[in-house]
Amino acid sequence: MSRNLRVDGARLWDSVMETAKIGATPKGGIKRLTLTDLDAQVRRWFIAACERAGCEVRFDDMGNIFARRPGRDNSLPPIAIGSHLDTQPTGGKFDGVIGVLAGLEVLRTLNDAGIETRAPIEVIDWTNEEGSRFAPAMLSSGVFAGVFTRDYAYSREDRDGLKFGDELRRIGFQGEEPCGVHPLAAHFELHIEQGPILEDEGKTIGIVTGVQGMRWYEATVTGMDCHAGSTPMHLRRDALAATARMIQAVQATGLAHPPDAVATVGLIEARPNSRNVIPGEVFFTIDLRHPEDAVVAAMEAELRAALATIAAESGVTLNFERIWDSPAVHFDPGCIAAVERAAAALGHPARRIVAGAGHDSAYIARVAPTTMIFIPCEKGISHNEMEKTEPEQLTAGADVLLQAVLETDARLGQDAKIK
Ligand code: GLV
Ligand code: MN
Ligand code: MN
Repeated sequence: MSRNLRVDGARLWDSVMETAKIGATPKGGIKRLTLTDLDAQVRRWFIAACERAGCEVRFDDMGNIFARRPGRDNSLPPIAIGSHLDTQPTGGKFDGVIGVLAGLEVLRTLNDAGIETRAPIEVIDWTNEEGSRFAPAMLSSGVFAGVFTRDYAYSREDRDGLKFGDELRRIGFQGEEPCGVHPLAAHFELHIEQGPILEDEGKTIGIVTGVQGMRWYEATVTGMDCHAGSTPMHLRRDALAATARMIQAVQATGLAHPPDAVATVGLIEARPNSRNVIPGEVFFTIDLRHPEDAVVAAMEAELRAALATIAAESGVTLNFERIWDSPAVHFDPGCIAAVERAAAALGHPARRIVAGAGHDSAYIARVAPTTMIFIPCEKGISHNEMEKTEPEQLTAGADVLLQAVLETDARLGQDAKIK
């Protein structure tokens, strides 16, 4: 294997900036929600670029796109490099996108150097990682790993009642191949950290050992909509006022398990949403996370009790449903070691780190040896149009990715199976 090989950082940066035009927002970010026309546009860009790089491209019945560069032994499962091209409504230019485009850059680098790997290499765009339009997150990597059925995924609805399956067909990305049928030899994902630790410690590379546990909930609070002028305070059943107390309880749940617990209400809809009507119904979402599953379970129990008390005191009813449980994940020691050696060989300051965000790798780890590589992002800001990482940092991460993939391919040559 060639430890001296390096990616073309300028070409990678240009690709990131070019795709950033698809769904560009005035503040310098991207709004490219999954299965929208803009998602279709960036998918077509990606497919064309991969075909120009000599890949055979196909997509499965969840719209996951696989761009394959053949190896010497095409009976071997491919080494995969995957992430996502969808974004949050006010997303940045880097979350997910760099993981896919760095994969493309790895293939282009191998082409330029005339290197033939032993195993095929596949670059993957996983559909709906963000979970912003269709909950839960990591939906299609989840189907690939057998966590969700395809029919469950197809039936997910966005807030306008549009179904995932219908939207997938509408944008023309429902393939023939059943999702999850082909094995992967390994899966690597380059991503921005989305937190402040690497920058704070002056590290260029995060060697990701796992992903913290996370659970999502949906709550509907039902009171009574009534006239805001003529209904005395003590006779109201104000669903929004009750929800305000519930949101404080969510905050308290996060604060009760320092330093790692986090708890968020990110989406809220009050009905009828009229300034002189007492809100009769509120829908809101809750996101709880902690690196230990037992703590996430304790947070849920505490929150359930607190919300029930508030509902009773406020004269409202509460429907509270857990819609997603993604347990803590521990990545593959062999892949982690490959990333660690690559970072050391390249001379990049590195540290081990646990991912706070969700990633497709969390599910792919169930079916293939997997790990991730983090690079810093400015002030740890992410899920924000201001998201920023430097070209040199992106290049460093892509070089580590390239070297980890090449080492894994070389090891495949030694063992029939890595691990
Ligand atoms: C996805 O980006 C998540 O962490 O929720
Ligand atoms: Mn992401
Ligand atoms: Mn994200």
